[in-house]
Amino acid sequence: MKQAVDGTVRTAPIGVFDSGLGGLTVLRAIRERLPGEATVYLGDTARVPYGPKAAETIRRYAIEATDFLLDKGVKAVVIACNTATARALPDVEARAGVPVLGVVEPGWSAAASASGTGRIGVIGTRGTISSRAYNRVIHSHRPDAQVFEQACPLFVPLVEEGWTDDEVTRLAAERYLGPLLKQGIDTLVLACTHYPLLKPLLARVVGENVRLIDSAESTAAALERLLVSEDLASPSGPPAAARYYVTDEAARFDLLARRLLGEEVEHLEMVSVDSTG
Ligand code: DGL
Repeated sequence: MKQAVDGTVRTAPIGVFDSGLGGLTVLRAIRERLPGEATVYLGDTARVPYGPKAAETIRRYAIEATDFLLDKGVKAVVIACNTATARALPDVEARAGVPVLGVVEPGWSAAASASGTGRIGVIGTRGTISSRAYNRVIHSHRPDAQVFEQACPLFVPLVEEGWTDDEVTRLAAERYLGPLLKQGIDTLVLACTHYPLLKPLLARVVGENVRLIDSAESTAAALERLLVSEDLASPSGPPAAARYYVTDEAARFDLLARRLLGEEVEHLEMVSVDSTG
């Protein structure tokens, strides 16, 4: 039998982490969909990018981020990073003792229902693509689908540089996406939380016959379902507070975060989460 939830737990915040800024695309969707939920966001900006790093390293980083959020009293953890979800979801689940949600499953199920032909492209960091995480979830949703994957390691630094609508980025996108377009995909999953910022440019490169799917909104919807099913949803009230933590210099994050979130970053603090030093 499910244990009754203590009422104070329902008003506890949702913890969200990413290697850096990209997870703010997911946080924004969560805050728009669930305005009554307080949030704590950790951007591990000192150690971004996770994409090219070894699986073991990413697991350690993800556990450290989880421990940090648990210390803040969160009632659920969202891994707003495809690389960390692909590499460390079971480890975070085992550690957390609270419900955990990654971005791979929601992103994939949105793509599976959006695709008419079942020919689906997936782009992400090297870590995400080499984990084959998207291939693993395919069978549970759409066994007839064919998935074509492509790592796009230059995209994250281009986004971090602010080159979201730039000739250099367009050329990189044409080169990365050319092979997928040759396969006749009708849906492209943006399996990296930085990539929604490239959506207008990518839409021009792939053309109107390919649908772009990102996991921000589907993750927010999955979180809402999870909170309801676990009896953890906050009672409705005024918009709840958001706190932000970063592991490296906060000033640049503040500037970009305001742009990404469309709201002021009220509480921003630099912290260390590294358990080794
Ligand atoms: N947030 C990461 C992801 O979604 C991309 C940035 C990184 O490589 O750390 O995969």
